[in-house]
Parts: sequence; C-alpha cells; structure tokens
Amino acid sequence: MNLIVTRCYFIIHIEVKVELYTKFALKNYLTFRGLKLQKLLNISQRILDKLKIFKLYFSYDYQEILVKQNSLYDQIGLNREKAHETLADIYLNHPGLDILKSEHHTLFAALSSNQKIKTILEIGTYAASFTKLLSILYPDAEITTMDLPDDDPIFKQTYDRNIINERLRFISERNSLIESCANVNFVQENSLLLINNRDLKFDLIWVDGAHGYPMIAMDIVNSLSCLAKKGFMFIDDVWIDRSQNDSNYRSIGAFESILALKNAGLIDYALIPKRIEFPHGEGHLKKYIARVIRSEDFKE
Ligand SMILES: C[S@@+](CC[C@H](N)C(=O)[O-])C[C@H]1O[C@@H](n2cnc3c(N)ncnc32)[C@H](O)[C@@H]1O
Repeated sequence: MNLIVTRCYFIIHIEVKVELYTKFALKNYLTFRGLKLQKLLNISQRILDKLKIFKLYFSYDYQEILVKQNSLYDQIGLNREKAHETLADIYLNHPGLDILKSEHHTLFAALSSNQKIKTILEIGTYAASFTKLLSILYPDAEITTMDLPDDDPIFKQTYDRNIINERLRFISERNSLIESCANVNFVQENSLLLINNRDLKFDLIWVDGAHGYPMIAMDIVNSLSCLAKKGFMFIDDVWIDRSQNDSNYRSIGAFESILALKNAGLIDYALIPKRIEFPHGEGHLKKYIARVIRSEDFKE
C-alpha cells in the first residue's frame, strides 16, 4: 500500500514539474528573453528525463531487479541478504549511519566476513559516515581515509561547503565522527599524492573522491598500484552513459578508465547497480559501483 502511495505521489510530483518546466521554457522561448539556447536545451533534456521516469513506472519490476541484484552478489562470492542482517544491527545501534546508504554499505558488509582484509583505504571521506561504518565492520583493520585539506578551493566549493559557518559545522561533525573510530587514520591531502606512496598496500580500496576527468582516471590507476595481492577495489558512481559530464560529481570517466585497464589485460571487473529502488534500477538514472580485481591475482 505504502509503495502504491509513494509511486502515485512520485507521478503527481513529476507531472507538476513537467508542466512547470514546459510553461517556463515556452514563455522564455516565445518572448526571446533571458534564455540562452543551452539553457533551453538543458530544460528540454530534463523534461525528457522526467518523462522517461514516468514511462519506466509502468514497466518497473522491483522483484525481478532484486533477484538480479542478489544473483550479482552470488557471482562475486558475496551474500547480500546476510549483509543486510549485519547492517540492520549496526544501523539500530548507530542512528544516522544509514543516511547516505546505497549498495556500497551492503557490498562492504558482505565482504567483512573476509578475515584477510587488514588494511583499507578510502579516497573521499566527506562526512565520515562511511568511514565510521567501515571501522565498525572491520574492527581489526587499519583504515586510512583521505580528503582534501579544509582550505583547498575544491573542498570549499563542492558538496555545499561554500558557506563558512556551514563548512565549519561540517568539519567539526566530521572530525568528531573520525575521533570516535579507534582504527582510522585521517589524511588531509589530495589523493593524487598517492603517487608518492605506491609502496603502501591496501587489501581493500574504496575510490570515492572526485568523479570526473582527470581525477577519477588517476585515482583508479594510483589505487590499482596500491592494491595488495588479491585485494579488492570498489569504485563509486560509475556511469556508463551520460550526455553531460563534470569534473567533480558525474562522468563516464570511471567506466572508460576501467575499460582501458580491462583491455590492457590488467583487471577484471563487475558492475553492481548502486540503487535498485524505483526509479533507480533501470533507465538513465542507473549508475553502478564497480568491483575491480587485478586479473593476474586470481588466475588459477
Ligand atoms: C562523494 S564524497 C565521499 C563520500 C564518502 N566516501 C561516503 O561513502 O559517504 C567525495 C569526497 O571526495 C573529496 N575529494 C574530491 N576530490 C578529492 C581529491 N582530489 N583528493 C581527496 N579527496 C577528494 C571531496 O572533498 C568529498 O568530500
């Protein structure tokens, strides 16, 4: 019942938005005032995207998508349902940790039964909620999390950190969360500096810093050099098809880098949908988390 109400609300919401966008675009087009062609194209694209979601509603089969997702986990030797049980306990005891959850929580929870993971690197600490989850899931591991220095211009300009008071509050909350973790080392430097530390080796790496060119390509290559033998690398926000790319949030950079490494015979990869709830499981909103392993490490 709840699902039906949510979907109806979603459709009404989309319809109202489509109407508003259309009126706005038409008005500006007819009067030739203030709207450059690019803006008009962007609005048209957004209307098209909303219509695609509307159409998707009628063919969306959550149960089928769920079965596919569970079987993707099976294929890479992980148990998704068991991971959800682990996470449910953690969320109950640590309110707020689930706010930014996506399939990466489930993947890392599923992998946490692997006793061989002793060193973990996270590129992109952000609010440290995932860092905290890692420290709970892997209490015996040594975790390094990296983010830009607090005074770095990109740090200040991205992720709604441009207003000084809000930024200071963000920094203070992030730092308290990190201090509450017994096994976390917080490194405040550009992830590019990993190039100087390629002798460091990590059993598990979470690549979740900048998501566009050129940073994502370099983060992936540096991380691969820092991956311990038989280690696992996961890469967040992998889009396989996008009409617009930017340097920080969204691009096909990760996917193209993964393909180049695969074609060079260096890695094997699997793509796991990042979200499967409507409307994320199909269509243009679909993005992935990539699991990457070094091919030679897993040859029989
Ligand atoms: C998507 S957020 C990370 C989210 C977090 N890993 C999680 O799972 O909740 C991306 C973070 O990467 C950081 N970042 C962006 N470029 C970076 C760089 N070159 N080096 C280190 N961190 C970077 C940003 O400041 C931001 O806090």
